[in-house]
This record gives sequence, C-alpha cells and structure tokens, in this order.
Amino acid sequence: MRIGIFSDPEAVADAAAEYLISVMNTTDHKVLGVATGSTPLPLYERLRAAHEAGTFTLEDAQAFALDEYVGIDPEHPERYRNVLRTELVGADKTGLTDENLHTPNGNAEDPDAAALAYDEEIKTAGGVTLQILGIGADGHIGFNEPAISLVSRTHVDALTAKTRSDNARFFDDDISKVPTHCVTQGLGTIMDAKEVLLLATGENKADAVRELVEGAVSAHWPATVLQMHPKATILVDEAAAAKLELTDFYKERWEAR
Ligand code: PGA
Repeated sequence: MRIGIFSDPEAVADAAAEYLISVMNTTDHKVLGVATGSTPLPLYERLRAAHEAGTFTLEDAQAFALDEYVGIDPEHPERYRNVLRTELVGADKTGLTDENLHTPNGNAEDPDAAALAYDEEIKTAGGVTLQILGIGADGHIGFNEPAISLVSRTHVDALTAKTRSDNARFFDDDISKVPTHCVTQGLGTIMDAKEVLLLATGENKADAVRELVEGAVSAHWPATVLQMHPKATILVDEAAAAKLELTDFYKERWEAR
C-alpha cells in the first residue's frame, strides 16, 4: 500500500485528481471504477475542471459504479446512478456518456440475478483499470459491511444501522427514508481492479483508516482486504490519519516514491 497524508480534503482531492488523470491518460483500457458518497465529490469537481481545460476526458471511457440502493425511486437524486450522472455525465462534465455509465440495477425484479449480471458486465468490459473508493466509518468499501466474505462477488446485502444513520444526511436526516438494502460489487470484484485509489477524510474515518492500514486483515473491517491488493493507493487527510502509528514513515515513503 502507498499512503499519502495531506493537510486537508482539498489537498487530498488535488493529489487524487493528479494521480487519476495520469493513470487514465496513459492507459489504453479506459475503464474507471467510480464511487459515490461525499468524499470523492471534490475529486469529481477537479475532473470536470480538467475536462473543461482540455487535459482530461472520459469521452471514450466506460465507468462502473461500486453499488446502488435496492428499491430506490428511479428519479430520486440520491439514487447512485443519478448522483453519478450529475457529477460526471455529459460534455459539460467529464465527457462520460450515459450509455457508458454502468450501475447495478437496484430496481430489477430479481436483484440477485442483476448482481450476477453486473459482475459479468465488468468482466466483459475487460475489468477495471482504476477503482476509486471511499471508506465507511465501519470499514466498508462499496457497501461490503462487516463479516462479508473477503472473496465475495457482486451481491445484494443489508446495510448496517451505522451506515444508514451516516447516510441519513442525504435523506432529509430521516433514517426511515434510507433504503435498507443495496447491490454492491463484492470484495473479490473490487480486488480484481488493476489499481485502487481509496480516499478518506475527516476524523469520523480515523478508526477505519487505522484498521485499513495497520489492522489485521479481517472481515470485521472489510477494507483491510486491500492489504492484499498489489496496487493500492490510500490518500487521507491529517484528521483521518490521526490514529495511525507510523505516520512519519508513510510520509517519508510517499516523498521518496
Ligand atoms: P462518504 O461515504 O464518502 O460519504 O463518507 C464513504 C462510504 O460510505 O464508502
């Protein structure tokens, strides 16, 4: 794992954008794994700015989302497909086309079959070149909540009370409006990405970041599976890094990269 520690969320987003753009501009396999949640939003803002400046485009790229709520109103602004459309789709955003934005179908008649089909769709596209990730306060990535199999594929799952309460801010602060289930790429699916780029900001993430980087690999903290990934870059701000022990070493190694 490479760990970059930055002063604040803006500096994390700057570093993430620089890295993502360099990877996507130099690959022939333009398949980007995209994440929702609030953490990647400053990164998306920078990608839109780079598109506007002509230094980056997703025009010829495919994008695969990590997850989607089950049973959410298709018009709901917090349906992840709609969030990603708002952030990324269109010539005035990053050039990504709606047709090339892939999201799990949380409204399918048979969500389990839709989950399997989504996993196949990623494989058919030849896999993800770079997967953007956030992390939940409970250590989830995608919506892989504690005790999920470390080799799971895309599947339907329940959300923990912690995740639903964390996400209530997107649903009028009313936890009863937060969907109870999701379709999410599994940990095995995420691990298939050639590279992963995980962003974490704020003190609310400090426990999860400590476990991710320095804890034992355990389904109790699903993100710890990334310790087994050959190319994982973790970019955090000082608040999210506050509980790490070897901070000085990570900073030295980052500088020397
Ligand atoms: P957040 O969510 O970026 O809104 O904190 C991250 C996550 O749940 O993966």
